[in-house]
Amino acid sequence: MCGIVGGCAQRDVAAVLLEGLRRLEYRGYDSAGMAVIDREGGLSRTRASGRVDDLAAALGPELPAGGTGIAHTRWATHGVPSEANAHPHAAGEVALVHNGIIENHERLRERLAAAGHAFQSETDTEVAATLFADRHRAGTPLLEAVRGSLAELEGAYAFVVISGHEPGRMVACRSGSPLVIGVGIGEHFIASDVAALLPVTRQFIFLEDGDVADISREAVTIYDADGQAVERPVRTSELSPEAVERGGYRHFMAKEIHEQPAAVAETLEGRYADGGVREAALGPGATAMLDQAERLQIVACGTSYHAGMIARYWAAAYAGLPCEVEVASEFRYRAHAVTPGTLVILISQSGETADVLAALRESRRLGYAGALAICNVPESSLVREADLALLTRAGPEIGVASTKAFTTQLTALLLLVGALARRRGRPQAEGELVRAAGSLPGDLERALAVEPQVSALAEQLVDRGHALFLGRGPHFPVALEGSLKLKEISYVHAEAYPAGELKHGPLALVDGEMPVVAVAPRDDLLDKLRANLQEVRARGGRLYVFADEAAALRSESGFHVLPVPAGPEPTSPVIHTIPLQLLAYHVAVLRGTDVDKPRNLAKSVTVE
Ligand code: M6R
Repeated sequence: MCGIVGGCAQRDVAAVLLEGLRRLEYRGYDSAGMAVIDREGGLSRTRASGRVDDLAAALGPELPAGGTGIAHTRWATHGVPSEANAHPHAAGEVALVHNGIIENHERLRERLAAAGHAFQSETDTEVAATLFADRHRAGTPLLEAVRGSLAELEGAYAFVVISGHEPGRMVACRSGSPLVIGVGIGEHFIASDVAALLPVTRQFIFLEDGDVADISREAVTIYDADGQAVERPVRTSELSPEAVERGGYRHFMAKEIHEQPAAVAETLEGRYADGGVREAALGPGATAMLDQAERLQIVACGTSYHAGMIARYWAAAYAGLPCEVEVASEFRYRAHAVTPGTLVILISQSGETADVLAALRESRRLGYAGALAICNVPESSLVREADLALLTRAGPEIGVASTKAFTTQLTALLLLVGALARRRGRPQAEGELVRAAGSLPGDLERALAVEPQVSALAEQLVDRGHALFLGRGPHFPVALEGSLKLKEISYVHAEAYPAGELKHGPLALVDGEMPVVAVAPRDDLLDKLRANLQEVRARGGRLYVFADEAAALRSESGFHVLPVPAGPEPTSPVIHTIPLQLLAYHVAVLRGTDVDKPRNLAKSVTVE
């Protein structure tokens, strides 16, 4: 949700900031801007509505000179996407960029307006800039002006602030939104995500909530929430700059779909042996935590929530564990009757989703047995705050539509359920899960080979305004995920139902214009599903059935079968996800949408 990048260096930083913004654009892309301070303290600011390319055009071929600068790509919360609302915001000599939401901004705005301050934008961010500038103008150094004002702000934020009075300094602070300092040689950078800074450094300091950092070319001093100077470790990132490049693919989403066999192999690496899950590889404390689990409560959002829904079936079927799944935005606000021994599992690609973090904190308050994170970002707030983290190791996912994050989450959940099955005296179930997981990279590779048929099918769906997706059992969440993918990147309205629910309402929508996409594995429910599909055929619906080869379904008029390579039962939902991702991708490409940056969305939802 919005991208921040900044730097203090001997060299001119504008080019580094622009490249950083391009790497962060997936986080927000309504408007963008940059402010640079030259060596004499002159502050230049350029902003543009639209994409980072629009900002680059506004900047022109001569980038502004100056060794200190900040830049931002925005996902609008307060105020429409426009140049006036774009960051950096400025007040007096102060300019700043902001991620998050200042909840009491209206009260602050009224107070500041009454004191004679004028505002150019509708944003909460300009209110913060005015607050900082007000103190700074009275002669207070920038660092103290920022620190002294923070107590007045309610909400979540990451700020990076510069001042024309103090060229060569950035003040950064975080509360609820991530910030990372990049340590170079005789220079320092800052960003909301390491991806922005990989071209300039691989050494990073991750700020903690409540931290304020005073950053210059030569030094970084960090103060914690109590105002004490603290040392935070410098970590070396394993990521290469190429990891966040498209690598010959037309879109990041296509690259990430095709990376899934390798990503899943990476998730599995070193985590199973001799037909069982290597519990030690799940992290210190895993055994003790798994031992006390009598029930599971999974909490997540979006695609990660769909992964949790599939895991619910696995937990019951293989580990004999009751499991509930809920979206984080609901979990955090309802009353709970907590059963002792309930382990909370939080699933999140980014580990920064505001509702998931709030749900984790709420689960602690409610006395759940422990919190385990399944997450893709090792340095994320979720990983740091949970008792235990099982990393999915998918590598950076840039496309806003989650693909490899989903299948690696499922792989991690499979291992977790395997470990729980053993703890609960079901070694055979554990063995079945581990065998299925071991063959998953190859199974996914085979599933990807259906791309030519799926891309041909996409041509039949491209002019449709609606679609229904059907599945049963653990393939119902697969249908949900397929419909989410289609709607978020192609803007086709899509709904998913358990196939047995069709006759309870949605069947009324079915006619010759309605494409119905079904997931048909070879399982105990296949005959039931067949009957549901006949209900659609009888109403003239156009059926597109992704059928396990072993299901032996044949194409007929109005009933198109696309064979999906058969796989073991536990991993069938993972394998059947691939053609649905490909379908959404190819429909979106044909419709000419911005596949990696769909309208109105952002990759990491760090606001409520
Ligand atoms: O980073 P997270 O996994 O917590 O994100 C959760 C959702 O925002 C995310 O899965 C979203 O639904 C994706 N755009 C779906 O493709």
